[in-house]
Amino acid sequence: MKTYFFGDIHGNAFALEAVIQHYQQIEPDSIYCLGDLVGWLPFVDRTLTRMRSLNLPTVAGNHDLMVAGLFPDHPHQLDRMQASAYNSGLLSTLPGALDYLLSLPLFIETPQMAILHHSPFHLPSHGMTPAITHFNYLDEAALSGCLEAWRSFPKKLIVSGHDHIPAVYELVETKRMPNMKDIRIHRPAAGQSLTISLNPGSRYWVKAGSVGGPYRDDVFAANSVLLDSGAQTLTLFRIPYPLAPLRRDLSNNRYCRNLKTLLPYLDWERSC
Ligand SMILES: [Fe+2]
Repeated sequence: MKTYFFGDIHGNAFALEAVIQHYQQIEPDSIYCLGDLVGWLPFVDRTLTRMRSLNLPTVAGNHDLMVAGLFPDHPHQLDRMQASAYNSGLLSTLPGALDYLLSLPLFIETPQMAILHHSPFHLPSHGMTPAITHFNYLDEAALSGCLEAWRSFPKKLIVSGHDHIPAVYELVETKRMPNMKDIRIHRPAAGQSLTISLNPGSRYWVKAGSVGGPYRDDVFAANSVLLDSGAQTLTLFRIPYPLAPLRRDLSNNRYCRNLKTLLPYLDWERSC
């Protein structure tokens, strides 16, 4: 059984097409999207139309919910707010787009795994409306505060996106209270895929990285993940996609081309 994951597209319709071509070659049994379809790049109308046509099981990301107007951003995220406002205006012209984003679940579970945008240990309580604080990034202190809950979590595999840096966090089996030394972090090298074999005693938290960026590890490639439960392996992919059409279309967008976070897309060759 092969299961494919990708997310954090962020309106990058060009990277999305590369990922679709990639998984069509693999022919997985199931495919999940990890949220943040929108936010940042100004090609969200194309991206959302394409994603809705694929009809994949998809969880909501913080950008999806902010763009749809469910909650405001942190006050200091001025660049992100400008991109969200542009995205929201653009999607308001696309029938049903904002309602679709609001309809996405925060959490999908299968018998084997939990699939969500951020963290199963920071979800809002049942019936509570999400806020941006439910999506605060997991620094080492926050992660260490989750270890006990992670060890007793009913699913041995968690798959999420959100932080845009691809990695597999492995919590090795221990009879005592776990600490950060019990976590092994597996990261793909720049421009290379990484396959790891699953240890039956370990728990895994897969951070799928980002399809469309912004690329916080400075590796400009679409990231995705394959779980092969027959082979008991996880593979993190780094998929190249064409730069020229993205730069052309972003250069022609007089508003978004000035957003600081988006400038590296226009200077990609130097960023590489
Ligand atoms: Fe994201």
